[in-house]
Amino acid sequence: MALYYNEPIEIVGGKGNRVVDANGKSYLDFFAGILTNMIGYDVPEVREAVERQLATGVVHTSTLYLIRSQVELAEKIARLSGIPDAKVFFTNSGTEANETALLLATYARGSDQVLAMRQSYHGRSFGAVSVTSNRSWKNNSLSPLNVHFLHGADRHLAQFRGMSDADYIAACVDDLRHVLATAVTKDVAALIAEPIQGVGGFTMAPDGLFAAYKEVLDEEGILFISDEVQTGWGRTGSAFFGIQNHGVTPDMMTFAKGLGNGFAVGGIVARGDLMDGPHAVGLSTFGGNPISMAAANATLDYVLDHDLQANAARTGEIIVSGLREAAGRLPVVGDVRGKGLMFAIELVDPATGAPAPALAARFMEETKRLGLLAGKGGLYGSTLRMAPPLTLTEDEAREGLGILVTALEAVNDEAR
Ligand SMILES: Cc1ncc(COP(=O)(O)O)c(C=O)c1O
Repeated sequence: MALYYNEPIEIVGGKGNRVVDANGKSYLDFFAGILTNMIGYDVPEVREAVERQLATGVVHTSTLYLIRSQVELAEKIARLSGIPDAKVFFTNSGTEANETALLLATYARGSDQVLAMRQSYHGRSFGAVSVTSNRSWKNNSLSPLNVHFLHGADRHLAQFRGMSDADYIAACVDDLRHVLATAVTKDVAALIAEPIQGVGGFTMAPDGLFAAYKEVLDEEGILFISDEVQTGWGRTGSAFFGIQNHGVTPDMMTFAKGLGNGFAVGGIVARGDLMDGPHAVGLSTFGGNPISMAAANATLDYVLDHDLQANAARTGEIIVSGLREAAGRLPVVGDVRGKGLMFAIELVDPATGAPAPALAARFMEETKRLGLLAGKGGLYGSTLRMAPPLTLTEDEAREGLGILVTALEAVNDEAR
C-alpha cells in the first residue's frame, strides 16, 4: 500500500467535513477517502439507517430472498439514470461493477474487442486492468479483452496543444474512425470511459466529445459504458452523472465509491435487455446486502433532499475561480481544471514547464501542516486532486481555498 505523507497519519475521528488524526490534529477533508465519504462524517441520517437495520438482527440474507431496500434503491437509480428500461445490479466495488459491464457488453455483442481511453483507470481486477491505461497502475499486459485506446483526455500532448475544443473533438473522432478501420475486426463490443478521469488526474474531454464519439459508435451498434465511480451523484455540479455533461445517455453506467458514504457498495445500471442477456445464473453474495443498502438509500436521499448537486456547483466555483485567480501570479501552477467539487491543480517546473512531481509532494506536506487533506495523482504524479464532501459549506470552501493558495505560494517561493 502506498501511504501519503513522509509521516503517514491515522484518522481516528470525523464530523461534518473534518477529520482528526491520532495526534489530535484536525483537517478539513478535501479528498474524502478518495471521493467516498460523499456527504461527510458522522451523518445522523446514515448512522440511524444502518443502526435500524442492525437492530433487526439481519446483516445478511443473500439475494435468494427479497431485500426491500435493494429494490427501492435500484428503482431510484434506474429513474435517475435516464437509461430507457433500466435495470440495476449491485456489487461491492467499482472494479466489480466494471467487470459486470464488460461481461454484459461482450456477451451482447459476441466480441472481446473493447475501446477505452488513454490515461484511464477502471479497477484492479484482470479485466479492469486490461482497460486501464496508466503504466503505474497496470500490473499485467495479459488481457481477457482485446483493447484499443482512444484520445480524448490528453490534449496536453504536443500534437493537440492550442487546439480549440471543436478542433480537438474533430481530431479525436478522426482517430476513432481510423482505429475502427485499422485496428479491429468485425464487431466491437463497447467503449468504456470515465467522463472525468479520476486516477488520471481529473483530466477531462471537452464537453461534447462523448456525444461525437457516440454518433460513430451508434453507426456500428457499439455499446457505451460510462464509468461514474468518481463522477456520479451530482459531484460535477452541472449534471447528476458526469456523462450528462456531454448530452449523452449511455447504454450502461457503473458506480461505487460515494453511494454508501463509506459503506461498501457498487453497481451497474444498464438497459434492461443487456442486463437480462446472459443465459447463466449469477449473483454477488455481498452485493446489495441489507447494511450497505440502508447506508446507500440514506446517502442518496440526503444528496437529493439537500440538492447537493447545486451545492457542488456553488462551492466548487468559489474554489476553482479562486485558484485560477491565484494561478496568474504563481508560475508553478501549470493548469487549474475542475467541474463542481472535482478539481485539480497541475504543478510544473517554472523554468521548463515540465511536470513537477517533487513539488506536488511538497504541496502535500504543506497542506497537511496547514490542516487540509488533498490527493495526488495524474499520469506524471504532478497533479493535486481534490474532491471534498458534497456537503462542503461556502465558508469551508473559502477556508480551504485560503489554505490551498498559501501552500501554493510556499511551493512557488521554494521553486524559484
Ligand atoms: C473511475 C474508477 N473506476 C473504478 C474504480 C475501482 O473501484 P474500486 O476501488 O471500488 O474497485 C475506481 C477506483 O478508484 C475509479 O476511480
